[in-house]
Amino acid sequence: MRYIPTLERSQTDVSKADGEFANAVIEGLSRVQKELPCRYFYDARGSLLFEEITRLPEYYPTRTEAQILSVAASDLVADFSDGDLFVEFGSGSSLKTEILLDRVETKIVYVPIDVSETALADAAVRLAMRYPSLDVRPLVANFSEMKGLPRDLSGRRAVGFFPGSTIGNLAPVEAEGLLAGFKRILGKDGRLIIGVDLKKDERTLTRAYDDEAGVTAAFNLNLLSRINRELGGTFDLRSFHHRAIYNSDAGRIEMHVVSDRKQDVRVCGQVFHFSDGESIHTENSYKYTIVEFSDLAVRAGWRPERVWTDTDNRFSVHHLV
Ligand code: TRP
Repeated sequence: MRYIPTLERSQTDVSKADGEFANAVIEGLSRVQKELPCRYFYDARGSLLFEEITRLPEYYPTRTEAQILSVAASDLVADFSDGDLFVEFGSGSSLKTEILLDRVETKIVYVPIDVSETALADAAVRLAMRYPSLDVRPLVANFSEMKGLPRDLSGRRAVGFFPGSTIGNLAPVEAEGLLAGFKRILGKDGRLIIGVDLKKDERTLTRAYDDEAGVTAAFNLNLLSRINRELGGTFDLRSFHHRAIYNSDAGRIEMHVVSDRKQDVRVCGQVFHFSDGESIHTENSYKYTIVEFSDLAVRAGWRPERVWTDTDNRFSVHHLV
């Protein structure tokens, strides 16, 4: 974990440990149900494709959450005082943050945390220009591995921000662990503003993860291109396709890459066999009811203070204390 200079751009990313990527891919492809860890979706092209996903007509979460945040913003920031920390976990481009920052009237310290130093630097420059009185302290770190905030920030009241239903990309037990970790990081008067996608009809859910224009498919298959490019893989992209299914027992959307035929693929000198129709499981997106998520938050040591939803009950924003 380290700060970056606010107004400087640098090329390095902490996520770029190559050996780690190779090991994760080999380990995942060796399983009976093949899988790949979702954190590798976000290379340069993957990040662009994901931004395109957030603008798709079928992908309701981003714009619904933004609507909810606009309505709730004044209430959410009402108790911010001078010197408070506003800590965003996995801040990326910090776009939704502006909806809240627009309503802040005190001098707070914004601490965006992300593994991508370039994304952090771009966002920090933009926010520093837009909010001259905001103290921005970008932190390069993997939020799921962080133990605490830098020492010079400790002792301040901290409000966490974790939008995008990223919590849904973890299994419920892991989600509980992460929320408990956030509580330790944010301290005893800490609060957390968190976006959570809600359970709903299966068609709306599957369409959000398998759009007409094929952007989500391109995003999912980009993981195979990345393996080809960075690890010398031999995936034939024309013989794999994207599939999103709703697993109602587990309450999650599952993303898979499915092989169209029997084939062998080499990665790092190792051969992996695919039967016709065999899949690689690439991502989960868990959906909750408001009660299910509130219970999970309680198990992690939080008290749900208030929850906002949109009029169609598609998405929720929880304020935990
Ligand atoms: N947090 C987002 C979600 O679960 C991530 C996401 C959206 C995603 N679409 C995707 C991940 C497609 C993998 C593939 O909604």
